Amino acid sequence: MVLSVPTRPSPDQKPGTAGLRKPVSIFKQPHYLENFLQAVFDTCPELEGGSLVVGGDGRYFNREAIAILLRMAAANGVSKALVGRQGLLSTPAASLMIPHFGAAGGFILTASHNPGGDDGDFGIKFNVANGGQASETLTDSIHARTRSIDRYLILEDETPIDIDHLGRHQLGGMQIEIVDPVSHYADTLERLFDFGKIRSLLSDPAFQMRFDALHAVTGPYALELFEKRLGARSGSILNAKPLPDFGGGHPDPNPHDAARLVESFMADDAPAFGGASDGDGDRNMILGRGVVVSPGDSLAVMTANAHLISGYRDGLAGVARSMPTSHAVDRVAKRLGIPCYETPTGWRFFCNLLDAGRITLCGEESFGTSSNHAREKDGLWAVLFWLNLLAVRKRSVQEVLAEHWRQYGRDFFQREDYFIADADSARELMQGLDARLASLPGKQMGGLTIQSADNFTYRDPVDGSESRNQGLRITTTDGARIVYRLSGTGTHGATLRVYLERHEPDVAKQSIAASAALRALSRAAHGIAALDRLGLNQPDSVT
Ligand code: G1P
Ligand code: ZN
Repeated sequence: MVLSVPTRPSPDQKPGTAGLRKPVSIFKQPHYLENFLQAVFDTCPELEGGSLVVGGDGRYFNREAIAILLRMAAANGVSKALVGRQGLLSTPAASLMIPHFGAAGGFILTASHNPGGDDGDFGIKFNVANGGQASETLTDSIHARTRSIDRYLILEDETPIDIDHLGRHQLGGMQIEIVDPVSHYADTLERLFDFGKIRSLLSDPAFQMRFDALHAVTGPYALELFEKRLGARSGSILNAKPLPDFGGGHPDPNPHDAARLVESFMADDAPAFGGASDGDGDRNMILGRGVVVSPGDSLAVMTANAHLISGYRDGLAGVARSMPTSHAVDRVAKRLGIPCYETPTGWRFFCNLLDAGRITLCGEESFGTSSNHAREKDGLWAVLFWLNLLAVRKRSVQEVLAEHWRQYGRDFFQREDYFIADADSARELMQGLDARLASLPGKQMGGLTIQSADNFTYRDPVDGSESRNQGLRITTTDGARIVYRLSGTGTHGATLRVYLERHEPDVAKQSIAASAALRALSRAAHGIAALDRLGLNQPDSVT
């Protein structure tokens, strides 16, 4: 029996950079979750009669949300739902499953790297048939629908479905299949990399690896891949059990939030190789003894070495990076004679390029990298890529980086984040700076001369769509760059991101810390935006 429940629009259901994210307390408000889900069903007629992939990062409220989602999917005529066992599916695993099973789409219940627990955040991402996130146009239509919604459809039957065991169930007219969240994903990765070579590297007693799953979704995936299939020593995976509150931590693999992990790699007896991922498994951090690989460098190194990895042996069609990401990969692409695209922040902008076969690898400075095997970034993929690379090159992480910099120069990069409690004043700051851009070229700031300044507009080369206001860019006459943009993933206040980069061709100057190399640029960025006027003296995090 299908109920049509009258409702009124919930305010502010506009999805951000990656789906709708709100505090759990908001998602728990009556009709809030239902309204958003119904807006998706109303906007995507292909879901009726189609199948749907469902899973999440295991955070608090995941199970409750899945129970409601299944009753609504059945009521909206979905023919089959494939649900990850225990409600788990990492973002990249879900992205791979959607096209594999010919599903019309998928719901990934995650707020990515945002903290979890009953006082943390929850989120929903809707991905379409190619496994990628809803485009900006579709997202706008879903948002428009949330503003006029007046009813949602849900099955009256509240009998709980056992999602903890593999099996099949019937809910109204909809079939439900509980699937293993790991095996299809692990099989796909096994086809891309040379597991034999990685296995022999990991069997070398002098080579130790450590992967920190941060009590988020990648634990079961990492145990299967590294310990079971690749023979890593037992104990190589830390914090492997997914917990609803991620053990109280902030599941984001970056030097700020994972400072303890980074510190443990600075010791002389640190493992040779390390990795970490985030809440939903799409981000990655790569570490070596004494070093964290900057994401822009990681993408560049991968591009330069892809021919050594079996899945990419035939060469790369092209590469892409988000606009604020460093130009390191551009230099490699130039030497390889392949195109390099610059897209706005957010993985969905890569998907058209991937679908059109224009790019093979892509990445963002925010610890995201992936390839055309998926339509999302993929944390464990990046870790396996690096392991495969080390197994072939027989060099340490530090040596690989130093050699890369010697060949291409080093692109020093740093991102400074400033939290601004009053979102309106953050928007005013950006508008004020935007209005002043045209007057900046030629001006001096802290010993640097501004060469150009603009507001980034992206024209998608595949479908011609235009995305405006994607970040304010300033370059200096000596080739350095500052980018300012506001985060689109936070759930309160605003976060100003200031991205700094500078190229250093001189080998003798490449081994200093990025913070020292970018000190003058950081001061200039601070001055140009007059951040002290808002009391923003120090960034809240530097990554
Ligand atoms: C952040 C990152 C961006 C990434 C997104 C989702 O978005 O900057 O690169 O795609 O998270 O993981 P932001 O908060 O900057 O809008
Ligand atoms: Zn994530």
